Amino acid sequence: MNTQQPKQPMIEIRNVWKEYGHNIVLERLHKKVHQGEFISIVGASGCGKTTFLNMLLGTEQHSRGEILLDGQPLRREPGTERGIVFQKYSVFPHLTALDNVMIGLEFESSGLTSKLFGRNNGVQKQQARQHAREMLAQVGLSHAENQYPHQLSGGMRQRLSIAQSLVKQPRILLLDEPFGALDPGIRKDMHTLIRSLWQEQQLTVFMITHDLSEGFQLGSRIWVFDQPRVDPQAPERYGAQITFDIPLNKQTINQPGLLSALNQTLQPAEPLQSGSV
Ligand SMILES: Nc1ncnc2c1ncn2[C@@H]1O[C@H](COP(=O)(O)OP(=O)(O)OP(=O)(O)O)[C@@H](O)[C@H]1O
Ligand SMILES: [Mg+2]
Repeated sequence: MNTQQPKQPMIEIRNVWKEYGHNIVLERLHKKVHQGEFISIVGASGCGKTTFLNMLLGTEQHSRGEILLDGQPLRREPGTERGIVFQKYSVFPHLTALDNVMIGLEFESSGLTSKLFGRNNGVQKQQARQHAREMLAQVGLSHAENQYPHQLSGGMRQRLSIAQSLVKQPRILLLDEPFGALDPGIRKDMHTLIRSLWQEQQLTVFMITHDLSEGFQLGSRIWVFDQPRVDPQAPERYGAQITFDIPLNKQTINQPGLLSALNQTLQPAEPLQSGSV
């Protein structure tokens, strides 16, 4: 990837907090992310990783602070510049693979009340189908365009989810444990796919994973979400922060002990027992 980063960050997170009632989930997040970065996100279960991704997507609102996209406050609703892929398949079971990808384009145009799939719009529909087919080809699913999700393997369904998300040509791709449910062999293929899509389409990627080595392998940078302070009497009092932010390059990846040090932070936080030092 391009190592010369432009000066203005694509995304800037300024003192962002997320609270649900009295429960502080995330606190004091300060980060800058440049276009083309691939951020791997790891952290113990329940520490707020999905919440963070949902704030970037716009389906959750931050409680305090600011999130800027290209220097402007992030629109507080999902937009076509952001696409997401979840661990569980988000495709529609009653639509073929091709229609699942086309529907992404339909949703995109519905805001303009353009009847993309209406009778009078044959040319647009034809273009959309062509575009969807190209996307399916990119994720290796050309042969399966007329199949329904239940006829696809887990890996194929995730390829379809990725195609559905990328057909709208987002600049930012959000991945929430996208390969968590897949067998190791299939995961490897998916890694190759996501890496080439990232590079070809110059995406900025945020990927949550529970697999540190996956995070190391794919990311250009890794963030660890962790709760540095835990109050055993009131666990909701402190939120998680980004406690490690490490650029991933040959030097850092081979640093002895780094993987095991990070692994430790992925264990669930154990509150201090009263009386312990
Ligand atoms: N809509 C909500 N209302 C109230 N609390 C919520 C809501 N969504 C998430 N939470 C709380 O926020 C915290 C973080 O949840 P989140 O799903 O972001 O964790 P996570 O790091 O993605 O966990 P996992 O690794 O298990 O997916 C949890 O304590 C959860 O109960
Ligand atoms: Mg989660």
